[in-house]
Amino acid sequence: MLSLTATILLGTLAGQAVGSVHHMFSGAFSGSTIYAIEFDDESNSLTLVNNITSNSSSSKWIAIDERKQNIYVGDGALYDSYAITNSTSLEYSSSVALLGSCSNANYLITSTASPYFVFGAPYSTGCAGNVISVDSSGALVSIVGNITYQSGAGVHGLALSSDNKFVYSADDMGNAVWVHSVDTTAGEVAEVQYLAAPTGVDPRHMVVHPKGLFAYVVFEASSEIGVYYRDNNTGELTYTNTTYPLLPTGFTNSSSYWADEVMFSVTSTGSPKYMYAATRSRNTTIPGYVSAFSIDADTGAIISQLFLTETTNSGGSANSVTSAPFAEEYFAITDSASNHVEVWKITANGTTTGTGEAVAHLDLATGPSDVVWVD
Ligand SMILES: *[C@@H]1O[C@H](CO)[C@@H](O)[C@H](O)[C@H]1NC(C)=O
Ligand SMILES: *[C@@H]1O[C@H](CO)[C@@H](O)[C@H](O)[C@H]1NC(C)=O
Ligand SMILES: *[C@@H]1O[C@H](CO)[C@@H](O)[C@H](O)[C@H]1NC(C)=O
Ligand SMILES: *[C@@H]1O[C@H](CO)[C@@H](O)[C@H](O)[C@H]1NC(C)=O
Ligand SMILES: *[C@@H]1O[C@H](CO)[C@@H](O)[C@H](O)[C@H]1NC(C)=O
Ligand SMILES: *[C@@H]1O[C@H](CO)[C@@H](O)[C@H](O)[C@H]1NC(C)=O
Ligand SMILES: *[C@@H]1O[C@H](CO)[C@@H](O)[C@H](O)[C@H]1NC(C)=O
Ligand SMILES: *[C@@H]1O[C@H](CO)[C@@H](O)[C@H](O)[C@H]1NC(C)=O
Ligand SMILES: *[C@@H]1O[C@H](CO)[C@@H](O)[C@H](O)[C@H]1NC(C)=O
Repeated sequence: MLSLTATILLGTLAGQAVGSVHHMFSGAFSGSTIYAIEFDDESNSLTLVNNITSNSSSSKWIAIDERKQNIYVGDGALYDSYAITNSTSLEYSSSVALLGSCSNANYLITSTASPYFVFGAPYSTGCAGNVISVDSSGALVSIVGNITYQSGAGVHGLALSSDNKFVYSADDMGNAVWVHSVDTTAGEVAEVQYLAAPTGVDPRHMVVHPKGLFAYVVFEASSEIGVYYRDNNTGELTYTNTTYPLLPTGFTNSSSYWADEVMFSVTSTGSPKYMYAATRSRNTTIPGYVSAFSIDADTGAIISQLFLTETTNSGGSANSVTSAPFAEEYFAITDSASNHVEVWKITANGTTTGTGEAVAHLDLATGPSDVVWVD
């Protein structure tokens, strides 16, 4: 048996992932409820602690700010903001209207340094992405920059470089990725690069590694991760012609799936150990897939695809993965068809192989879109 000291030591070594209760909010595709959820990493249980009646008619996507004081919600023709009054409560603060006839606020990301601009993408052709300013409390104020694209573009996902100086757009309808530079004081944006993607892959979401040398793009139509080199000075991308599959070897029915999400594990070191990705099944009786990759600490290159394993159900419209802030081995995943949120934990065997499994499951009344972790 372990001594008490050894047990405490093990707990310390594992970060805060022993005996702690963590909090998250989950958006939902329909209805005004935003869920406040607790995850206990000792009992491996998820608990619904508050059905928050929000001022949003739906919360198709929610994002949290760097300071963990606000959440931002894609709500039809509005971007809404809420103050996090405590880890289980929100208070509506403000909304900013999308421009022109744009009405599908779809995706939001937040910058990591003052003045804490928020970036939003309406998912429709003819709509620019938006840079939105916030006040001192983090409430949304107004659109200060437009991320413009060509007419056939329809951008589904955004990503920022770690210095917040470049914003990347995954152009699902236009089958491309875009790079824009950002004036980190004024929020104005200028086009740097348009880069067509391989035929028919449909970039959906993407991430830029903190070291600045690689970007990874979810190819929705082919259910793959596309690997891009990044020039750390100009911000420009080069496609490497390398992909990693988000479907098992031998599957010829990629049109029955649609890859969804990619995200690094969360760490303050600037060198995430893992990257998570998921793909949805278009048939709600057949499961989707989730995968984890080990990432080189210095370059950000993929070392290995640790595993590719079935999710509990199809994912529906979203099996969004959101990495946990308390330990890199944990992430949350949604399923908007089966109306659940789960927490998964991976076990890596060095950097070459590994496994992942759901450790906690919570059924909800409506289909969750994505979660944000508060702590
Ligand atoms: C949330 O709402 C569901 C019904 O939709 C109900 O079963 C549950 O008890 C509520 N939870 C809380 C914490 O209010
Ligand atoms: C937000 O919702 C609350 C509670 O339902 C309501 O009292 C308030 O008037 C709403 N505010 C706005 C700006 O819609
Ligand atoms: C969080 O805030 C709500 C509303 O102000 C309050 O009802 C609740 O008790 C608070 N919860 C905690 C854990 O402080
Ligand atoms: C963004 O676009 C809108 C609508 O075209 C325009 O009114 C506004 O001036 C633009 N903002 C900036 C900062 O360019
Ligand atoms: C890339 O540039 C950022 C600053 O813009 C810097 O923090 C980072 O260390 C650079 N990466 C490399 C690999 O030199
Ligand atoms: C990718 O393939 C294209 C077409 O074969 C080739 O022109 C390009 O140089 C390749 N890119 C890299 C980074 O190898
Ligand atoms: C795709 O094909 C595989 C292999 O034949 C099969 O197991 C799977 O159920 C199919 N998926 C869907 C969504 O039809
Ligand atoms: C979904 O998969 C099931 C089981 O393979 C099959 O019976 C059904 O026809 C599929 N539904 C659709 C819409 O393809
Ligand atoms: C762990 O990885 C090593 C190779 O690095 C391999 O030989 C071993 O079988 C793996 N163990 C498991 C449990 O997968």
